[in-house]
Amino acid sequence: MTKPRLFSGMQPSAASLHAGNYIGALLQWRDLQVEYDAVFCVVDLHAITVPQDPAELREATRRTAAQYIAAGIDPASSILFVQSHVPAHAELAWVLNTLTGFGEASRMTQFKDKSSKQGSDAASVGLFTYPILQAADVLLYDAEIVPVGEDQRQHIELTRDLGHRFNTRFGETFVLPEVRILPETAKVYDLQNPGSKMSKSGESPQGILWLLDEPTVLAKKVKSAVTDADRDIRFDPAEKPGVSNLLSLLSVLGGQPVPALVDQFAGRGYGDLKSETADAVVAAFAPVRERALELLADPAELDRLLAGNADRAEAIASATLAKVYDRIGF
Ligand code: ADP
Ligand code: NA
Repeated sequence: MTKPRLFSGMQPSAASLHAGNYIGALLQWRDLQVEYDAVFCVVDLHAITVPQDPAELREATRRTAAQYIAAGIDPASSILFVQSHVPAHAELAWVLNTLTGFGEASRMTQFKDKSSKQGSDAASVGLFTYPILQAADVLLYDAEIVPVGEDQRQHIELTRDLGHRFNTRFGETFVLPEVRILPETAKVYDLQNPGSKMSKSGESPQGILWLLDEPTVLAKKVKSAVTDADRDIRFDPAEKPGVSNLLSLLSVLGGQPVPALVDQFAGRGYGDLKSETADAVVAAFAPVRERALELLADPAELDRLLAGNADRAEAIASATLAKVYDRIGF
C-alpha cells in the first residue's frame, strides 16, 4: 500500500537548531514519517534570499541535516536532502513565477514583515518570490500534506492557487496539498522573554535552548528562566507565560500531560519545576547532540548520505518537471 506523500523543510540554521525547531517541527516530522511517505528538505535556496556567508551556509546546511537525523528523521525510509542539490526546484519556481500575479505576490505578509526589517531597498527580489519557490518545493513531490507553523499558512494557500491555476491552464498536473498546522501545544517560548516564541533571532542568548548546547549549559538556562512573583504553579499562558512554558516543555519532553504535572507540583516551588524541566531537557537533548556531533565528525560520509538522498528526490522531481515542461510547450 502506498502512503500519502508529505513534504516539509527548514532553512539551514547557523549554529544549531533550537528547542522550538526541535519540538515544533522535528518531533512532529519524526512521528509523521511513519504514516506518510515523507520528504524533508534543507532549503538552502531559500537561505540566500537574505545576505549570507558562503562558508557559514555550507556548514549550516550540514549541521541542520545532521540534527534532522539525530532527532530521528530516518534518511533510509524518508527522503532527507538539500534543496540546491535538485535543480528542478529553481526550474519549476521560474515557471510558477510566470503564473503569479505581481499583486498576488505583494500580498504575502511574510515578505512585508521581513522586508520592513531590512528596508525595502535592501530586500532582494528573491525574498519577494520566496513563496513561489516554496510552492515549487511542494508541488514537485505531489505532496498531499505540508506540516508547517501557522505563519506559513498563506504560502501553502498560494501553492494550492498556483497548482490549481497550472492544472486549469495546461491540464491536470499537480496534486494540491493540504496544510497541516503544527499543534499550538508544541510551541516553545523564549525563557527570558516568555511572551515571545523562542527564535534563532531572539535577543537574549540565555533565552534560547540550542539542541547542540552542552548539558550543563541547557540546565543553567532552564534554571535561570524568567517566571513571575507569585508562587503558584498552574498552566495559564496569558497570566503566567514563563511557568506555562516550563510546564509545556516538561510535558512534551517528559511525556506527562500538563494537568498531571500541575497536580504533582501543587504546594511545591518554582525551583522544583525548573530543576525537573532542566533534567527533562538534558535527557532529551543530550543523545541528539551526541548523535549529531558523531555525524558531523565525518562530513564526507554525511555528504555521501545527502547525495544519495538527493538522487532519490531528483527522481521524483525531474519526472514532475518533465511533465510540466511538456505541457507548457518546451
Ligand atoms: P526561527 O523562528 O528560529 O527563525 P524558523 O522560522 O526557521 O525558526 O522555523 C523553522 C521551523 O521550526 C518551523 O516549522 C517553525 O514552525 C518551527 N518553530 C520555530 N520556532 C518555534 C517555536 N518557538 N516553537 C515551536 N515551533 C517553532
Ligand atoms: Na521565523
